[in-house]
Amino acid sequence: MLIRAARLSDLDDIVNLVDYYAAQGALLPRSRESLLEYLPVLGVACVDSEIAGIVALHQLETKVGEVRTLAVAPGFHKQGIGEKLVQYAVAQAEKAGMTKVISFTRQVAFFQHCGFQIVARETVPAKYFIDCVGCPMLSHCDEVAMERVLTSTTFSSADDSGSSHPIISKVAGIGQ
Ligand SMILES: CC(C)(COP(=O)(O)OP(=O)(O)OC[C@H]1O[C@@H](n2cnc3c(N)ncnc32)[C@H](O)[C@@H]1OP(=O)(O)O)[C@@H](O)C(=O)NCCC(=O)NCCS
Repeated sequence: MLIRAARLSDLDDIVNLVDYYAAQGALLPRSRESLLEYLPVLGVACVDSEIAGIVALHQLETKVGEVRTLAVAPGFHKQGIGEKLVQYAVAQAEKAGMTKVISFTRQVAFFQHCGFQIVARETVPAKYFIDCVGCPMLSHCDEVAMERVLTSTTFSSADDSGSSHPIISKVAGIGQ
């Protein structure tokens, strides 16, 4: 399994994966155009030549990143790929000098497994004021705010491709 920066040739597979989970309500729906714009900040997990999973790191604040658009293709669950993708995003955050990575998620046990802990959503004001305030789900949001504080001993890198591609997104309005 290899985790590397996404390429234009991956776009169809990324669109299909996001569509699949968006239809289940697990991810926010994303147009092909928005995913194309998002491509430079996506990492992909490849098994042989197949895209087995995707992740993005969004720069929420100067020193705070957010794991977004995390998905593992159905045939590849429970093989450690999701955790490796989170490690990749965390490693990218560390390279960028971030001190914290957050996630707003329903996959609480999975993110706890990845070293995140539950925090009050008010502790992430940038997320609240940029994404949450205009969200129709605000009053009945079932996502849990989680964070992982980064230290110098956190993963050196989960990217075994040798790429130094920074998957840092400042694209506004692109959420989970
Ligand atoms: C959540 C998701 C990314 C996990 O990917 P995965 O590759 O199956 O997870 P991993 O194999 O890396 O799991 C790592 C650990 O977390 C556990 N885990 C995985 N999914 C879990 C879940 N839903 N609940 C509890 N534990 C879970 C695994 O059992 C494993 O623990 P173990 O090593 O003790 O066995 C995947 O289920 C997915 O794509 N879900 C749909 C999209 C989604 O919800 N994305 C998250 C948006 S925030």
